[in-house]
Amino acid sequence: MSTLKHFLQFRDLSRDEYDYLFERARWIKDKFKRYEPYHPLFDRTLVMIFEKASTRTRLSFEAGMHQLGGTAIYLNTRDSQLGRGEPVEDAAQVVSRMSDLVMIRTFEQEIIERFAAYSRVPVINGLTNEYHPCQILADIFTYIEHRGPIQGKTVAWIGDSNNMCNTWLQAAEVLGFNVHVSTPPGYEVEPERANLYGTDHFEEFADPIDACRGADLVTTDVWTSMGFEAENEQRMKAFADWCVDADMMAVARPDALFMHCLPAHRGEEVTAEVIDGPHSVVWDEAENRLHAQKALMEYLLLGRVDS
Ligand code: CP
Ligand code: NVA
Repeated sequence: MSTLKHFLQFRDLSRDEYDYLFERARWIKDKFKRYEPYHPLFDRTLVMIFEKASTRTRLSFEAGMHQLGGTAIYLNTRDSQLGRGEPVEDAAQVVSRMSDLVMIRTFEQEIIERFAAYSRVPVINGLTNEYHPCQILADIFTYIEHRGPIQGKTVAWIGDSNNMCNTWLQAAEVLGFNVHVSTPPGYEVEPERANLYGTDHFEEFADPIDACRGADLVTTDVWTSMGFEAENEQRMKAFADWCVDADMMAVARPDALFMHCLPAHRGEEVTAEVIDGPHSVVWDEAENRLHAQKALMEYLLLGRVDS
């Protein structure tokens, strides 16, 4: 069994480590914007394994590793033995003998936990059915850039209690902010998960307007996540009143931000008026995947760096 530092869930790192990473991401971003080369991961290899589709995650990891001086290799289940029944434990041993770092996007969290247990190198969760920690890392970095520390603030989560929602709940616990969740009946946060996070940082609301009242950040995601496509028709009906619109933003704080991990569906989980409007920071949020993950990769491979 490995004792390496992995990033499989948001709570794998401490608040102190996040403070370092947010500051480090800012430094790396500033340097990148000044076109100053920075190659601390020269000669290092990242393997990216995708069992689901991706635009942002693939781009940000691949470009990020290149910009840090290393190489990224893309594998998917269609073109590799991973899709033909090779055990995860065997794949982990082989992939991690040929690389320095692995990122995986897969289905059940259990798959990435098993991979990490047999990996010789750090493993990063690039999204599972349960969690999307890299996205929340970038989202909170984006919040800090625009509004300062997130401690004590309120995030309104509107829609499905999916991987993004679960990760916001973990982040609230680690970093000390509040999450107001509103989901349609039948799509609430799973009771075991809700118990896990306790009630200190988390409150559920039947009406999405009530969840948004006084919020510092309003956020949502697709109604049907990857892997749940068979439920799409029933979800479209169930979620119809959980579209983030101008009325919801009007009861949030006047300086509230709107975020969406993307891809978005205007007219479903958010109106065009909101996602393309003045509260929205979705493009900064998408770009910050690059900078936040560069800080994460550097940290997992080199630890804290002073420069
Ligand atoms: N937000 C996000 O993870 O996007 P992709 O699915 O395009 O990677
Ligand atoms: N919840 C979505 C996020 C996509 C980036 C999904 O899992 O498909």
